[in-house]
Amino acid sequence: MAERLPAIAFVCLGNICRSPLADGALRHEVARRGLGWTVDSAGTGGWHAGDAPDKRAIAVAARNGVDISGLRGRQVRVDDFTRFDLILAMDHDNLAGLHAIAPRAHRADVRLALDLVEGRQGQAVADPYYGDARGFDATWADAQGIAHAVLRHFGAAG
Ligand code: 4NP
Repeated sequence: MAERLPAIAFVCLGNICRSPLADGALRHEVARRGLGWTVDSAGTGGWHAGDAPDKRAIAVAARNGVDISGLRGRQVRVDDFTRFDLILAMDHDNLAGLHAIAPRAHRADVRLALDLVEGRQGQAVADPYYGDARGFDATWADAQGIAHAVLRHFGAAG
């Protein structure tokens, strides 16, 4: 039987800013390379379930050639810990929220997203929600760095 392809989920608080950008950045690279991996995102909170990403997130992705307008928010679920191989939290609170609901035994490797990025270990992706549009450029740069680090993590050229 063929080996299972990697399945990766990004998790932030609302699932309308940071995690959809990381999702979009990796999804774009995966599609471009024809890798067929599963890429998804979710929020530890459920307030934005069913919502499109924040307009500023859609705009920064579009400026960088990536369409995230079709993504919809959802809250993280217990079965995510078995569906995904790697669950990447955007900040320390998100990571704590994941650990709080993780089943005792699960498949997923759960960690801080920037822990995969050389020189950024232990850092959080800053929440741009309450800031201005420039904050979203920084979020996009982090999302790109994370996407390439995930490609390298699974042995695809970064
Ligand atoms: P995200 O940003 O966690 O990167 O999606 C936020 C989005 C919404 C809220 C907070 C952060 N909120 O409080 O509604």
